[in-house]
Amino acid sequence: MIRLAIQSKGRLNEDSLRLLQDTGILVDDAKRKFLGKAANFPLEVLYLRDDDIPGVVADGAADIGIVGLNETAETGAPVRILRRLGFGRCRLSLAIPKSVVYPGRSWFEGRSIATSYPRILKKFLDENGIQAVIREIRGSVEIAPAAGIADAIFDIVSSGGTLVSNGLREVESVFVSEAVLIGRENLSPEKQALLSSLLFRVDAVQESRGKKYILMNLPTPQISKVLELLPAMRSPTIMPLAAEGWSSVHTVVEEATLWDTVEKLKEIGAEGLLILNLDIVVA
Ligand code: PRP
Ligand code: ZN
Repeated sequence: MIRLAIQSKGRLNEDSLRLLQDTGILVDDAKRKFLGKAANFPLEVLYLRDDDIPGVVADGAADIGIVGLNETAETGAPVRILRRLGFGRCRLSLAIPKSVVYPGRSWFEGRSIATSYPRILKKFLDENGIQAVIREIRGSVEIAPAAGIADAIFDIVSSGGTLVSNGLREVESVFVSEAVLIGRENLSPEKQALLSSLLFRVDAVQESRGKKYILMNLPTPQISKVLELLPAMRSPTIMPLAAEGWSSVHTVVEEATLWDTVEKLKEIGAEGLLILNLDIVVA
């Protein structure tokens, strides 16, 4: 049995559960539950506050966890970063009231900054030789300047909406974060084997994200052009069609450039394109 800690509610909860679901592991997303058990994999899920996850993994109360890199860095817990997961992207930034003219980092000298991330902030201030007062508060950091608690804030920025609605402006982006899979040191051989099996599935899920499967018919003389256009995973699958002089081409393309690719394929004579969702890629 291996025990995974994930966020019980908040920005990473849904994506963490979706990742588990995509790896074929069935867990109940009972939000009020503290400990759940997967139906078809020897895995327990511990639902926690994100801030507590790195420490719980370091202590061994959980073996692995899904949490923001920001929380991991802030706690300084001795855990291994096993994988970057590509969701929960955000940054930790310094923000000041939008009416203030910002001359550069020296502005923070002697000022007070409210944050829930004192450790990461202190490192930044030290590295830049800035003396400032850090006021640690646990939540609602964004109201601190208006409430007269601090001159500036250091907090998570994702869409930037919270800053805008509080009359604040991001002036320094200090730390870039995303969700990571963390693990403790010294797992037993049994747990290590379960972790390897889980990582194998996670890698396959990650590999398939942002990709589509594409099928098309193409005049056979154009095949060399399609090979230039689609430097896919390996080479595409090419099969002759019953119609003389035509071939069927199957391959995987990046979703981000899908429509550019489709246009170019049309230009070289591709017809009857089918674009399908891709569930899993096992490399
Ligand atoms: C963070 C942060 C802001 C907000 C920023 O809080 O404290 O309130 O997200 O996001 P935005 O730029 O998209 O508006 P979060 O909801 O993650 O809660 P937590 O920090 O208390 O865990
Ligand atoms: Zn939190």
